[in-house]
Amino acid sequence: MSTSQVEDREAHRPVLQLRMRVNDESVQLRCEPRTSLADALRKDLGLTGTHLSCEHGVCGACTVLIDGTPQRSCITLAASCDGARVTTIEGYADDAVMADLRQAFHTQHALQCGYCTPGMLCTARDIVLRLPGPDSERVRNELAGNICRCTGYVGIVNAIQLVLQHKQDGALPMPQSTTGLTSNPGLAQQATSEIQDWPSFAFDGVEQWLRVDRELDFAIPAQALWQRVADLALVARCLPGASISQLVGSRAIGEMQIRFGPMQAQFAMRAELSLQPALQQGEMRAEGSDRRSGTLVQTQMSYQVLSHATGSRLRYDLRFRLAGPLAQFSRNALVNDYVSEMSRIFGQNLQRADSAEAVAQLPAETPSLWRIVWRRVTRWLQG
Ligand code: FES
Ligand code: FES
Repeated sequence: MSTSQVEDREAHRPVLQLRMRVNDESVQLRCEPRTSLADALRKDLGLTGTHLSCEHGVCGACTVLIDGTPQRSCITLAASCDGARVTTIEGYADDAVMADLRQAFHTQHALQCGYCTPGMLCTARDIVLRLPGPDSERVRNELAGNICRCTGYVGIVNAIQLVLQHKQDGALPMPQSTTGLTSNPGLAQQATSEIQDWPSFAFDGVEQWLRVDRELDFAIPAQALWQRVADLALVARCLPGASISQLVGSRAIGEMQIRFGPMQAQFAMRAELSLQPALQQGEMRAEGSDRRSGTLVQTQMSYQVLSHATGSRLRYDLRFRLAGPLAQFSRNALVNDYVSEMSRIFGQNLQRADSAEAVAQLPAETPSLWRIVWRRVTRWLQG
């Protein structure tokens, strides 16, 4: 795994090497497995704007964005953020919503000692992005996880309502990108900023590539099939468990959720598609990490669209490898069946996706372990 573990020879303690993107800069960290994200940010990176108070996940002072979602950095292990995008209070220099919130906190007297303020602003910004208008009751409920010992909250609620009013009036430019700086991903969102180059995860080289090749037949002409598989957003929509939060040209950032028996993972992913339209061939490279387990995944899929008696055929060759705690599942023979089941659902979705309405109504079907096991048993019984 890239979260490579070396030994601190003097202290005889294991040390992890982590990579993450903090405030839009790639950083590398060496820390112990027990190091919290808050400590890593404050002590290793000098980002002391992240405040620590209760250190038990109760007060919200340490709230930062992890992959676009506000989270407590005091009870988040730094190791679980390997490959993640982290935004601290120092990382909003060009953010219009945060600028308006800062101003509103000032004019509405929303802080006194200021200790809760970095975490409060992080949560406030998330509230502004999600709520349609200045509903005081809702704002108060949403702030339940952030404790302020000084202000009595009136100024804080007023400040957030003021910014929500600006949003409702159309006076506040809302961010387009959902990566790192919003928490409302959606397929149709198109970012105007670029998805920057990202250092690739360093696999040790010992992880085995697993390979699966398949053919799927479709009852649509090859040209129509090509148009669908050349559309990265549509491919993600048809793939069970996948979602895109940012899409710029041929690059995308999103998530892949996998639930397969005891294995549950939510990989933060980035993907890049390269196409050769003249040959109706494409290649998609993707990689990501599961924050909970620290497992890394890399995939490479090359595919080609062909004319066929049924209409068209999609031939693909998928290679993938896992590193980390969940890698044990990649050695399981059931994984082959899992990929086949994913493939079946993907093909079914792609076939149906002939209009925007049809795409919107695609079912959220995911591969079922029990169905896979049942098929195996049936095959076995039939000899
Ligand atoms: S310091 Fe993290 S929630 Fe209180
Ligand atoms: S301003 Fe002091 S704790 Fe909130």
